[in-house]
Amino acid sequence: MSKLLHISASPRGERSESLALARDFLDVYRELHPDDEVGEWDLWDGTLPEFGPAAAAAKMDVFAGLTPSGPGAAAWDAARAAFARFAAADKYLFSVPMWNAGVPYILKQFIDVVSQPGMVFGFDGTLGYSGLVTGRKAAVVYTSAVYGEGRGPAFGADFQAPYFEGWLRWAGIADITSVEFRPNLATDEVATRRARARAAAVEAAKTF
Ligand SMILES: Cc1cc2nc3c(=O)[nH]c(=O)nc-3n(C[C@H](O)[C@H](O)[C@H](O)COP(=O)(O)O)c2cc1C
Repeated sequence: MSKLLHISASPRGERSESLALARDFLDVYRELHPDDEVGEWDLWDGTLPEFGPAAAAAKMDVFAGLTPSGPGAAAWDAARAAFARFAAADKYLFSVPMWNAGVPYILKQFIDVVSQPGMVFGFDGTLGYSGLVTGRKAAVVYTSAVYGEGRGPAFGADFQAPYFEGWLRWAGIADITSVEFRPNLATDEVATRRARARAAAVEAAKTF
C-alpha cells in the first residue's frame, strides 16, 4: 500500500487549471489503487510554517553541527514537523502554477522549510550534496497562461519547471512524470489544449 500526497500550490480553487488536472489524475489513481492512502496538502491552508530569521539561524547552526537554541529551537521543530508530513508519503503529486516565470512563493516557502540537512539532503565536503528523499516518485502538473515552449522571449521564460524539477532531483526524487498545460489562456484552441492536458493527466495516473 502506497501513500500519495497531493501538494497544491494554486490558491485558485475551482478556477485553478492545475487543480482540475490534479483532480483528473487523482480520480484515476484512486480507482486503480483503492487501498492506497491519498492525502492533500494545500500549501495555502495556513499549516506551512514560516522560515524567517530564527529558522535560518537554526538551519545554519545544524549545518555547523550545533543544536539550535532559543527561538531557533521552536523554528527548527516546526520545520522538522513539516518535513515529517512530507516524508510520510512515498508518492507525490504537485500542482505547480507559473507565477512571474517561476513558482508561487508558497511553494518556494515549502521548499525552504523542508530542505534541511539530514532531512532532504546530506552534505559531504568532498562529494557535495546527496538527496535523502529516495525511493519516491513524483508527478507534477505545470500550468501557465502565456508562457509556452517555443513561443519566444516576448511570452516569458521558464524558471518554473527547471527550478522545480531541479529541486526534486536534488532532494533525491529521480522518478518524475510531468503533465503541462502551458499556455492555457493567451493562445488559440484552449479547449483542445485543455482536453489534451486532461488526457495526459489520466495517462500519467494509469502508470503512477
Ligand atoms: C501572481 C501570478 C503570476 C503569474 N505569472 C505568470 C507568468 O509569469 N507567466 C504566465 O504565463 N502566466 C502567469 N500567470 C498565470 C498563471 O500561470 C495561470 O493562470 C495558471 O493557470 C495558474 O495555475 P492555476 O490555474 O492552477 O492557478 C500568473 C498568475 C498569477 C496569479
